Amino acid sequence: MKKIILDCDPGHDDALAMMLAVTSSEIELAAVTTSAGNQTPDKTLNNAMRMLTLMKRQDIPVAGGNKTPLVKPLETAGNVHGKSGLDGAELPDPDFEPQNMTAIELIAKTLKESNEKVTLVVTGPMTNAALFLRVYPELSEKIERIVYMGGAMGLGNWTPSVEFNIFVDPDAAKIVMNSGIPLTMAPLNVTHKAQILKEEIKNIDDIKNPVAHAFYGLLNFFELYHEDPKWEFKGAPLHDPCTIAWLINPEMFESKLMNVDVENKGGITMGETVCDYYELTGKSKNTDVLLDIDRDKFIKLIMDALRTFN
Ligand code: BDR
Ligand code: CA
Repeated sequence: MKKIILDCDPGHDDALAMMLAVTSSEIELAAVTTSAGNQTPDKTLNNAMRMLTLMKRQDIPVAGGNKTPLVKPLETAGNVHGKSGLDGAELPDPDFEPQNMTAIELIAKTLKESNEKVTLVVTGPMTNAALFLRVYPELSEKIERIVYMGGAMGLGNWTPSVEFNIFVDPDAAKIVMNSGIPLTMAPLNVTHKAQILKEEIKNIDDIKNPVAHAFYGLLNFFELYHEDPKWEFKGAPLHDPCTIAWLINPEMFESKLMNVDVENKGGITMGETVCDYYELTGKSKNTDVLLDIDRDKFIKLIMDALRTFN
């Protein structure tokens, strides 16, 4: 059983990552923290709490994170995730309170109270993770690994060469990537293969429970954005759940260890992840980069997880 903290910006695919984490017997979700990204920080915090209320996991402590990226102004993705950040389904209002502390305080508390090392999973911009490492450097040894969705090798989904999470806060990504903590990266190269097809989304509503019904609506909404032929998708890419799926079953993926750093100064490349696939720099192989996924197993994992609710 792996103990994790999920730092997320829900976000449709973040919500699905959270669902996988709460249902897996391999994972203990010790805390949820939220970042500003897909929507404003108040909305992503509210969305995380709405999802935990829906899944009846109000016992999991939640705290909201930094209001803005470290240096850049916040840019959100309402065009992808809607006005609320989780458009497409009727979700309950949260029926519990967030912790009376910030995200980095909750991460620190969780690590201090844990007898074992904890994995930090980041499915939004890395602002909270970076701030945490700056404010509590003495606790970094309690982090087993940081598993994140972000970046790409030679692709972009926000600018031609930059993925959204890294685009929002490249300065935070720089701190995390150079922290010395073991890293696993789920870049667009693998998440674009982690697609759910339209007919598979339809099957979700046959599961007949309130959580599956909500995800049916959410995924229909999320899929619409990805229907534009320019993306060349057959469905919708489920970026963020790749992180949790890797923790549950790493054998579902192919990966390669390499050095990954980020351009946080450049002009048109600001936020581009630089992945040293051919070991040209001789720098430490700080990141296990996920490159391929067994899509059928991944979709089955999601469907089976949705069936566990009643
Ligand atoms: C990432 O950006 C967000 O819109 C998604 O939630 C995911 O974390 C994909 O680029
Ligand atoms: Ca996200």
